[in-house]
Amino acid sequence: MKDENDTRAFGMQLAEELRPGSIVALTGDLGTGKTALTKAVAEGLGVTELITSPTFTIVQEYHSGRLPLYHFDVYRVGEPEEMYEIGYEEYFFGDGVCIVEWADLIGELIPVGSVMIRIEYGGEETQRVYYVGRKEE
Ligand SMILES: Nc1ncnc2c1ncn2[C@@H]1O[C@H](COP(=O)(O)OP(=O)(O)OP(=O)(O)O)[C@@H](O)[C@H]1O
Ligand SMILES: [Mg+2]
Repeated sequence: MKDENDTRAFGMQLAEELRPGSIVALTGDLGTGKTALTKAVAEGLGVTELITSPTFTIVQEYHSGRLPLYHFDVYRVGEPEEMYEIGYEEYFFGDGVCIVEWADLIGELIPVGSVMIRIEYGGEETQRVYYVGRKEE
């Protein structure tokens, strides 16, 4: 179980482990804290810009941290085609870190080896359960 402070600590620790080309795929219902976790990772990377939800733009870039951060929210992506249109490969196989909210919606595009994090609601309002793994072949 993670409360909000644990989410922040987890995100900042995760940020330490990220390298150029790292991809973090987030799955979880509305309001489970995908953006909250992204903010913590951004903080850990030293991003000083305000993190906003990229729902309408699909991807938002931040360049003030240790590594470039590319924050995706693919909630409104209907077809994988739309990902090709925004040139997602340049981000996924680039020099920065990608964090993808609603990654299950574009599951086939998530590369093997990506960090997979599923977030579920815990028993209480401020509790969440994290399931962390790696995408396998
Ligand atoms: N343990 C926790 N970890 C993360 N966020 C929490 C926790 N407990 C409560 N919250 C609250 O839950 C909300 C999560 O909102 P957030 O926008 O991050 O969710 P989201 O998964 O990105 O939603 P969406 O699917 O709309 O993008 C925030 O208001 C945050 O303060
Ligand atoms: Mg969000």
